[in-house]
Amino acid sequence: MKKQSARSSSSQILPANQNTRALEPPENAETLRPDPHDLLGDAPIDLKVLKSLVDKSILSVKDFDRKTVVELCRFAALLEVMEIAPYHLLDGKILITAFFEASTRTRTSFESATLRLDGKIISIPDAAITGVKKGESLGDIGEMFNAYGDLVIMRHTETDALDRIRQNLRIPLINAGNGSGEHPTQALADWYALLKWKPELAAKKRKKRNGGLHLGIMGTPGNMRAVKSFLLMSLLFEENFRRITVVSEMADPLGPELREEIEGAGIEFQECSNIQEVISDLDVVYMNSIAFLGDSYRTLDSQNKIEKKSPLKKNAIIMHPLARLGELDTDLDNTRHNLYFAQAHGAVFVRQALLTAVFDRFDRLPEGIPLK
Ligand code: CP
Repeated sequence: MKKQSARSSSSQILPANQNTRALEPPENAETLRPDPHDLLGDAPIDLKVLKSLVDKSILSVKDFDRKTVVELCRFAALLEVMEIAPYHLLDGKILITAFFEASTRTRTSFESATLRLDGKIISIPDAAITGVKKGESLGDIGEMFNAYGDLVIMRHTETDALDRIRQNLRIPLINAGNGSGEHPTQALADWYALLKWKPELAAKKRKKRNGGLHLGIMGTPGNMRAVKSFLLMSLLFEENFRRITVVSEMADPLGPELREEIEGAGIEFQECSNIQEVISDLDVVYMNSIAFLGDSYRTLDSQNKIEKKSPLKKNAIIMHPLARLGELDTDLDNTRHNLYFAQAHGAVFVRQALLTAVFDRFDRLPEGIPLK
């Protein structure tokens, strides 16, 4: 499928992952599918950095620093290229996926990540099958979860739901999307795809601003949790961006907190309402249109859309956390601009990396893995 020249020493020793065959694009497809070997490289993965996540809850991108994101993504690359099933990394662990709001990718990829590592799942795909339907509080549900599982992955329509379940929860909690709050593991999946596309973005900070990328964000980061988390994680890699443009029809698409974060990073920043004003200068386009306001969904910024005939740069990439509506035309799927399928596919490996770190199961890895 991919060039083999950059293979790390570990993947020369260990058998290749059989499960990734299904990730190969169909014959003759143009779709971008970057090679994890390029990100993995030859340097050992820094175990000390990953061990900072042991027993930790992940509620926000602010629970990560740059080094942790890079080492998690490199560890994910290792899990993507090697056959990991024989090592049962999550054997004996029970994860509760508590989704009080609909999901296609996040719940399924967390469950796939867990099952492929021999962990077990208690799956709650809908609030209506819990005591919430009868008025039970999230605080009480958290107390019960302590006895039933080893970690909770929760999605909820309400931004303050994390605080409410944490009143009584004593096992780690991973935020899988809280209202218009954050979606930190989506940002990990986004950056895993980005770092596979351009591994040099991971390199230690150096002054690159002027020769860097122009990032266009189509959407309203202040109200769209995936966009917000992506933007916050992008600020950890700020020197790679010469400019950020937010394209939104809303009057204040960032809100005060994000505006302060961007201004603090010192990146050149602009806002506009029409994608046509900037599209031909963008290197990375991150887009979304679904926002969560209270307990309802709203489509914002839907007048801006991208399609195959849009005047994109030849090497520009399009990212989208999905689900998409009309803003991203399916005629872009079979083009070199499409990084969004790689985001969704890679989510399994980056979530495996995170769960292995939180449960400190590195001792189950076989000899020959380059860890330091
Ligand atoms: N990216 C994302 O959060 O997708 P789902 O809503 O399908 O989980």
